[in-house]
Amino acid sequence: MATAVKKSPVKKSNSHAKAASHAKTKHEVKTNGQTSQSNGAIRSVLKEKRVFKPSAAFSKNAHIKSMAEYERLYAYAEKNPEKYWAEIAENFHWFKKWRKVLEWKLPYAKWFVGGQTNICYNALDRHLTTWRKNKAAIIWEGEPGDQRVLTYLQLHREVSKLANAIKKRGIKKGDRVAIYMGMTPELVVAVLACARIGAVHSVIFGGFSAQAVADRINDAHAKMVITADGVFRRGNALNLKSVVDEALVNTSSVENVIVYQRTKAQVHMVEGRDHWWHELMDLASDDCPAEKMDSEDPLFILYTSGSTGKPKGILHTTGGYMVHVANSHKMVFDIKDDDVYFCTADVGWITGHSYLVYGPLINGTTVLMYEGAVNYPNWGRLWDMIERHRVTILYTAPTAIRSFIRAGDEWVTKHNLSSLRLLGTVGEPINPEAWMWYYNVVGKKKCPIVDTWWQTETGGIMVSPLPGATPLKPGTGTRPLPGIAVDVVHKDGTPCKADEGGFLVVKRPWPSMLRTIYGDNARYEKTYWSEIPGMYFTGDGARRDKDGYIWVMGRVDDVVNVSGHRLGTAEVESALVAHSAVAEAAVVSRPDEIKGNALVAFVTLKDGFEGNQTLKESLREHVAKEIGSIAKPDEVRFAAALPKTRSGKIMRRLLRELATNGEVKGDVTTLEDFSALEKLRQQEEEE
Ligand code: PRX
Repeated sequence: MATAVKKSPVKKSNSHAKAASHAKTKHEVKTNGQTSQSNGAIRSVLKEKRVFKPSAAFSKNAHIKSMAEYERLYAYAEKNPEKYWAEIAENFHWFKKWRKVLEWKLPYAKWFVGGQTNICYNALDRHLTTWRKNKAAIIWEGEPGDQRVLTYLQLHREVSKLANAIKKRGIKKGDRVAIYMGMTPELVVAVLACARIGAVHSVIFGGFSAQAVADRINDAHAKMVITADGVFRRGNALNLKSVVDEALVNTSSVENVIVYQRTKAQVHMVEGRDHWWHELMDLASDDCPAEKMDSEDPLFILYTSGSTGKPKGILHTTGGYMVHVANSHKMVFDIKDDDVYFCTADVGWITGHSYLVYGPLINGTTVLMYEGAVNYPNWGRLWDMIERHRVTILYTAPTAIRSFIRAGDEWVTKHNLSSLRLLGTVGEPINPEAWMWYYNVVGKKKCPIVDTWWQTETGGIMVSPLPGATPLKPGTGTRPLPGIAVDVVHKDGTPCKADEGGFLVVKRPWPSMLRTIYGDNARYEKTYWSEIPGMYFTGDGARRDKDGYIWVMGRVDDVVNVSGHRLGTAEVESALVAHSAVAEAAVVSRPDEIKGNALVAFVTLKDGFEGNQTLKESLREHVAKEIGSIAKPDEVRFAAALPKTRSGKIMRRLLRELATNGEVKGDVTTLEDFSALEKLRQQEEEE
């Protein structure tokens, strides 16, 4: 049993998470919409001071057994980071050992220079000479309830065959392959097949629109697309191939499309370009030796939102990514050979890449993978799967936790969840109320929670408890992992005092860091390395408490986290402005009980257009078409004019306040036209 120490009066967790507390910040750093939520959470925690120590039984069996051991490891890595990382890298298979651990020419890093390896070899081939050969690598469940199990040997065979099939279709080392599929094992096979032959995969989340798919294909000049006829989601068969067909009208680089048959939907196959997965696999040999990759050879591109309109192609390379991702997975999730590990993230996001595919498979873990919605056909689905598959570790997002809280405890409590031993969260700050519910109702007070802070750009977990060592506080990712130099600083780079709000930065290169933005070094330098001199700028605001625990307060840029997914408000604005009725648009966030943040779009219309309900709906649909449903504004408000500074900059801060509180109390001295704001406020009262 975990023990709660220094317990003070705690509000009883009820079925409504109080995610959207609007407490005013006393921190100096101005962050966006999420922050008020987080600050509310921070305040309540400061009052309550709850600390949960790992149980003696958990610590005894853990890889890292005590805080003293963590401190020793952390200090060792601080003193000689390169030695620390080199010792970890020794645990992997290298065709050729590196000459130099790190070459650092700010802001460009090379790790394990001169080394040759293959991440697919480390994830599969290595296990085939051990008893794990016949261990389940993936236990998969489709949304309709169909199930499959692939052992490491079977997965290796599928990957080798697909690797041969894509080679035969002209894909060579360094070529980019776009993957647009639902969550079936074939998605993992496609990713690993690319890695096996040195092709650079660019997985595009299955919810993105044709336009978003085309943008990503064009940016990476992808030569091939691997897709499926469709995917089952909430009881419907969504057609993915037709989205690809639409996307390919606006691209010219794609020569071949491979289509996995999942839903048996009607699809149009273009002669010479489109090939059925099963037909290619029937012909392919299962002998495909893994390509020897240079440690710094690109592994994948994954697009993520930034402050400006165009998504950024985050580029990760091979050796360093492999070393940190697999090692952090083992440490943070305390991975044992008998674990059944369930990560609910889609492979279309970084969490799926690092902690569903690469980390777990390199560690020889059994992964539970699920195709559909976690609440389909009802709110019991997730818990039912955990019970049936005897899941031991669950890794999910705060937004899912909050929606389960709302659905009611009975969906959880009617299932036997006694197999669970560890819980994890990722993607956004978790409000302490939701943390307590996860701890009490799901974990039955015996499972530590690892709240893991990291980003697409960091490749792997940076700040997280180590479950056998770290005393937990609800709402914080606690301390940085050994070898990770995270700090909270002022704009000039000087460290903040305890409990003082500042910018979250990383002060030293780490092996799984992004290497650049694909095709855009200038943007890479500007976005990450120019805000704070000499340091990697995360885009997050944070504070560090007196115990050195990091409390992430939310983004300080124009990036918003909606249901754990990153969206650039500028991206949504560009989509809106592309609509024929729209003159100008400003998109801001307001706290939302379930999604963490909701998007509110303020729109001015061109002459001759009338702002009515039909237009609101068509604007929301338009955004879904341009980007994907995840980016649909929750609210569209028409405005005669938007509040601007004298230099013409839209004052989004005021719109944020208005969207959140229905009024503006902040500083308006730089506002050019007061009437614009006044009109918006009146409109708010009327609505
Ligand atoms: O704001 C932080 C938030 O999510 C951002 C990264 O988003 P993305 O690249 O999509 O990766 C999400 C999965 C790793 C961060 O800048 N974030 C992520 N994890 C946490 C978090 N905020 C608070 N606590 C976390 N555990």
